[in-house]
Amino acid sequence: MAHAESAHAVLPVPAPFTGRQDVDPEVVRELLSHFTFDDYEEAQELILSALQEVNEHFGWVSPEAAQIVAEHLNTTVNRVFGLLTFYADFRTEPRGHHHMLICHGMACYVMGSQALVQEMQGGFGIDDGETTADEQVSIQVVNGCLGVCDLAPVVKLDDEYFGPVTAEELTSLLNRAIGGQRAMREKGVSNGPRPTK
Ligand code: FES
Repeated sequence: MAHAESAHAVLPVPAPFTGRQDVDPEVVRELLSHFTFDDYEEAQELILSALQEVNEHFGWVSPEAAQIVAEHLNTTVNRVFGLLTFYADFRTEPRGHHHMLICHGMACYVMGSQALVQEMQGGFGIDDGETTADEQVSIQVVNGCLGVCDLAPVVKLDDEYFGPVTAEELTSLLNRAIGGQRAMREKGVSNGPRPTK
C-alpha cells in the first residue's frame, strides 16, 4: 500500500508563499522520504503527489528536484518532465518575489476581469503564468473562484485580496509590487469592499 497521505500528516504545512525560493535538494529528499512504497506500481502512483508536494513547498519544481523525484520513485526524468508539462498547476521556473492571482471565475468575469487580463498582457507584456522581467511579480489567472466574489473583480497579491480592481488599479498595484510596496488602500484599492458613498 502506498503511503503518500502520511507525508501530509507528518510534514509541517508549507508556509504561505512569502517570496522567491530556490529549491534545496536536501529539503526535497526530506519531503520525499515520507513517500514510501512496496513495489514499482505503487511508486508510479506516487509521482504526481510527490511533485505536488515539491511544487507546493517551493512554488516550483526545479530540474534537479525532478531528477531527485525520478530517482526516489524509480522512474525516468522524461516521465517526470512529461507530468510537469502536462499539468498546468506545476511551475518549472521560480516564481517572482511576489505572486499575483487574477480571478477569472464567473463572478469576476461578469464584473470585468477580462479587462485585467488584457491589461496584464497589453500593459506589461506578461502572459498567464509568466514573471515580470525583473523577477519581481509572477502572475497567474485563476479560472476557479477565490471565494470573495463580493469584491469582484478580485486580485490577490501574496496574502492580500484586493477588489473591486479596475485595469488602472491593476497597473498601479503591479507597479507598487514591483517597487516593493504591497498596500494600495490609499489609491482606492482595498482588501475589502469599497466604502459606499
Ligand atoms: S469568481 Fe472571483 S472571487 Fe469568486
